[in-house]
Amino acid sequence: MKNNKATSFKEKKEEVPTTPWQGPKTQLLLFLGQWLFLVLLPSFASAACDQVDHEALLSLASKVSSSPPLNWSSSTDCCLWEGILCNQDDQRVICASLPGRGLSGVISPYITNLTYITHLNLSWNSLLGPLPDDLFSSLRHLQVLDLSFNHLVGQLSPSSSQTTALQTVDLSSNSFNGSIPSSFIVSAVSAGSLTTFNVSNNSFCCFSGLIPINNGSNHTSLSFLDLSYNQLTDTIPPGIGLCSKLQVFRAGFNSLSGSLPDEIFNLADLRQLSLPVNSLTGPINDGIMNLTNLQILEIFSNQLSGPIPSQIGSLSRLENLLLHINNLTGPLPVSLANSTKLSALNLRVNNLTGDLSSFNFSPLQRLTTLDLGKNNFTGEFPKSLYSCKSLTAIRLAGNQLTGQISPEIVALESLAFLSISNNNMTNATGALRILKGCKNLTTLILSKNFLFEPVPDDKSLGDLDGFQSLRVFALGGCQFTGQVPTWLAKLKNLQALDLSFNLITGSVPGWLASLPNLFYIDLSNNLLQGGFPNELCRIPVLTLKEASDKVDRTYIELPVFVKPNSATDQQYNQLSNLPPAIYLSNNSLNGSIPIEIGQLKFIHVLDLSHNNFSGSIPDQISNLTNLEKLDLSYNQLSGQIPASLKDLHFLSSFSVEYNDLQGLVPSGGQFDAFPISSFEGNPGLCIPLTPKRSCHQSPQSPPQVLEVTRRSKTQTILIALVFGIFFGIGFGIGFSMDDKKIPIIGRRRK
Ligand SMILES: *[C@@H]1O[C@H](CO)[C@@H](O)[C@H](O)[C@H]1NC(C)=O
Ligand SMILES: *[C@@H]1O[C@H](CO)[C@@H](O)[C@H](O)[C@H]1NC(C)=O
Ligand SMILES: *[C@@H]1O[C@H](CO)[C@@H](O)[C@H](O)[C@H]1NC(C)=O
Ligand SMILES: *[C@@H]1O[C@H](CO)[C@@H](O)[C@H](O)[C@H]1NC(C)=O
Ligand SMILES: *[C@@H]1O[C@H](CO)[C@@H](O)[C@H](O)[C@H]1NC(C)=O
Ligand SMILES: *[C@@H]1O[C@H](CO)[C@@H](O)[C@H](O)[C@H]1NC(C)=O
Ligand SMILES: *[C@@H]1O[C@H](CO)[C@@H](O)[C@H](O)[C@H]1NC(C)=O
Ligand SMILES: *[C@@H]1O[C@H](CO)[C@@H](O)[C@H](O)[C@H]1NC(C)=O
Repeated sequence: MKNNKATSFKEKKEEVPTTPWQGPKTQLLLFLGQWLFLVLLPSFASAACDQVDHEALLSLASKVSSSPPLNWSSSTDCCLWEGILCNQDDQRVICASLPGRGLSGVISPYITNLTYITHLNLSWNSLLGPLPDDLFSSLRHLQVLDLSFNHLVGQLSPSSSQTTALQTVDLSSNSFNGSIPSSFIVSAVSAGSLTTFNVSNNSFCCFSGLIPINNGSNHTSLSFLDLSYNQLTDTIPPGIGLCSKLQVFRAGFNSLSGSLPDEIFNLADLRQLSLPVNSLTGPINDGIMNLTNLQILEIFSNQLSGPIPSQIGSLSRLENLLLHINNLTGPLPVSLANSTKLSALNLRVNNLTGDLSSFNFSPLQRLTTLDLGKNNFTGEFPKSLYSCKSLTAIRLAGNQLTGQISPEIVALESLAFLSISNNNMTNATGALRILKGCKNLTTLILSKNFLFEPVPDDKSLGDLDGFQSLRVFALGGCQFTGQVPTWLAKLKNLQALDLSFNLITGSVPGWLASLPNLFYIDLSNNLLQGGFPNELCRIPVLTLKEASDKVDRTYIELPVFVKPNSATDQQYNQLSNLPPAIYLSNNSLNGSIPIEIGQLKFIHVLDLSHNNFSGSIPDQISNLTNLEKLDLSYNQLSGQIPASLKDLHFLSSFSVEYNDLQGLVPSGGQFDAFPISSFEGNPGLCIPLTPKRSCHQSPQSPPQVLEVTRRSKTQTILIALVFGIFFGIGFGIGFSMDDKKIPIIGRRRK
């Protein structure tokens, strides 16, 4: 028996490397075509499948379970088994394809006896354990290996392989570790066959000599290289510039260091260069302009410095330019207006400067997402943006923009997300009168502008269909005066409302409970008076399971950054991760906490601190079984801490400091873990020591007296101005953004 005799199959296959890129679907179709072709061939061979292959397959099946079970029976011809394909001449297995077949178990070492196999696809199963050591050296005809989306572990053995046929290797989304061995890639690349190599989403630490540099000759086969989502600490692989036909290079979400090597700019076929979330330094050289086929350039969350190349606009095919969270300086290059295919432009969290209103956005008719937040741009809100009709999301927050929103903005009919917080814009009422015309707005973040204007309280704002799509509305930190505007009661889709850090007077409006979708309310740091309205205990989403389940919190066009009170800045890519919350801290609220509060079963955060609440802590709070944070500090609460609170299993943050509580702090449950500081400033309170709360953790100095620690309202406002912690502003920890893990406060639902 000689080599592969599946001639028909092979002839067709040989077209593959010379064909330009084919998407997975095309490949699949081609592959199915070949299969059908073979299956439909009249079968002259009466012989059953080769005995060696037969046994190898039975061994493979014996090590895995699947549901429904593999219909492989020892009595039948293995060439007829599900997922198996043999060549015609000598009935050797050339293909085993069982993707997503529910296989669970280890890969039998006998698989290496399938020496004629060219295609092995066991992706999307639950295969465990390591690969057989000699897999690559044994399966010398293997062209396509797809083991992606399994639970495979261990190192890939650096076999002294002569494998030369490999075209596609997909080991992605497993748990392989150790070094990415270069050996089989070296031989496959050298033989000019390997087109796709995907090891993304594993735990590889490193590679050495990944790309053979030998005599500096080009490796013309490799088109797709994906090393992303590993723990690689090397530099960009040397020799990458020799992969002259590379179309997609992805190595993001590692710890790659060093600069972008010049050789990367040799890759004239490159369509996608994706290196986000690494530690790359240095500038983006002008060489990037050689990459004229580039469609996706994403190097966000690195430490790149210097300007954006002034001629970047010569990359006329560019669709996604994502360079956010770096240290880029200089202006937005004028030439960028020539990249007319641009759809997503994200440069937030850099040090870019210049008058934004002088940039002409109008040629960018395909632009859907623009994020220039947290830079040093000046000037007015760029009017040319109003002609970019495809825009769905704009963030210009955290710059030094001045002026007003112009009526032309209503031309942006698809606009759903607008964040201009933390600028120097004026005329809030005018802005809202205009924005009312943007019928599709779902997220509107205007915080920290409009200083000392009256709160927009134009009754007509909520008229008819005004803001009827709005889900997130943030107007914090504007020093607004007046009362909570009643037109907000008409925003039936509102889910999150932030009016914190203003000078709002009057009472907490009970009508908030009439908003059927509201689950996040921040009225903290205002001048509100009166009691905790009983109506608030009937907020539908916080009290009724049906209402809570009904709320659509799945989608948001751009992430929002939320830093309520003293919590750390959080990025939310979905509203579903935003914890249901009521923040009323730092007002002048008084009276007792109503017992009806026990109805807010779905609330995660309740913050009533820094008010004048009196009376006892209602026992009913123990019914708030989803509570994660309860802050009642700095009030005048008296009586005992209800022992039932220890049943709140998710409670991870608790404070009653500086009240007038008495008796014994409950023990057991979460209560053993809360630090002494949660309770201090209550002279009548007896705090039992626990292993986690032993004596040495108690404060060094005696608790300060109330008057000293409690700051005046003026001081509070000053602090607010200094820290600027509102919706859409908190860029403080920018480098944790866009991590693969979404930081969350609340537990993740579903
Ligand atoms: C199992 O395979 C045999 C042929 O090998 C076939 O006749 C039978 O219908 C198959 N059963 C199922 C449940 O697929
Ligand atoms: C393996 O099978 C899956 C599911 O059919 C398919 O999506 C994938 O493209 C196949 N892999 C290769 C390399 O053809
Ligand atoms: C590599 O595999 C992952 C899935 O594990 C997939 O998302 C990614 O697109 C693949 N990379 C390339 C370049 O095809
Ligand atoms: C960013 O660049 C500025 C000047 O270009 C430099 O002073 C600063 O240290 C850099 N920051 C980081 C984090 O690299
Ligand atoms: C945009 O492209 C045109 C034609 O290619 C060129 O003449 C012009 O200089 C470019 N504009 C900028 C700002 O680079
Ligand atoms: C505020 O904006 C409105 C609407 O654009 C406009 O009519 C009004 O003149 C503006 N007020 C000031 C003081 O600029
Ligand atoms: C209230 O203001 C005080 C300063 O007076 C500050 O320390 C505290 O963090 C604020 N509390 C909340 C919950 O915002
Ligand atoms: C807690 O809720 C249950 C029913 O949901 C109710 O029977 C019980 O009385 C409540 N407990 C308190 C302390 O409100």
